[in-house]
Amino acid sequence: MSNTDKPIALEAYEALAERYAAMAETKAENGYNEHPAMRIAIGDPAGLQILDAGCGPGFLSRDLLDKGAASATAFDISPKMVEIARRTTGCRATCFVADLAQPLKTLEDRSFDLVVSSLAIDYVRDWSVPLSEFARLLKTGGRLVMSVQHPMGAFNWYKPKSAFGVQLCRADWKGFGGEPVEVPDYYRSFEEIINPVMQAGFSLKGVTETRPLPELKALNPRKFEQNDSFPTFMIIDAVLSATPGK
Ligand SMILES: C[S@@+](CC[C@H](N)C(=O)[O-])C[C@H]1O[C@@H](n2cnc3c(N)ncnc32)[C@H](O)[C@@H]1O
Repeated sequence: MSNTDKPIALEAYEALAERYAAMAETKAENGYNEHPAMRIAIGDPAGLQILDAGCGPGFLSRDLLDKGAASATAFDISPKMVEIARRTTGCRATCFVADLAQPLKTLEDRSFDLVVSSLAIDYVRDWSVPLSEFARLLKTGGRLVMSVQHPMGAFNWYKPKSAFGVQLCRADWKGFGGEPVEVPDYYRSFEEIINPVMQAGFSLKGVTETRPLPELKALNPRKFEQNDSFPTFMIIDAVLSATPGK
């Protein structure tokens, strides 16, 4: 596997950026499921220096800063998303365009306490690059909390030819209003999620199969039932246990 190709989801997220920013916080899958689950998994960010990898519109950075994070550094492959993230965080976060699939050369070793990444690393084929970068950038004992598509949910959605390995898939996103946008993505099996995290020097602290907030039941019973009976996302919570090369 390699990351030499152009980022697969760049065009799609440039097309979706404004619509995604306007709707994600009230959508069942994001606002009522992945967003709250990530914030619970992260816990108290007070005083932490945080890297938000694949920040999108910057909601997570904004919320962590609101809860007392010492700093947030946020990047995304989409220039439009980065512009929105600047707005969302009121310029309190340092936001820039960068590719998760490539080394983050402008960031110094051991400069973060916590790396968060919400539904972004799925778009990278070879995780060895971003995960070794997260390990380089975290202080000793630092933590990685990232959400990804649950393999069961992704298999159900994309119907790839095989449930093993990493498979390039595509789907038309119709849930953000306007014209549908075709979004390329990678389906990954469990071993393709868990093993790269451990190989990069992290110890797993926990895995969460996210479930929707109870209030979604009254707002959208169908989505509640879907999200509460079948896992769409999972969160990996891991601690840097070994510094590669040391
Ligand atoms: C589903 S959105 C999630 C955005 C944000 N983390 C959130 O939860 O609101 C996926 C994000 O990943 C970004 N992304 C996709 N491929 C990327 C890459 N190779 N490097 C950095 N960001 C990427 C997209 O531009 C998009 O903003």
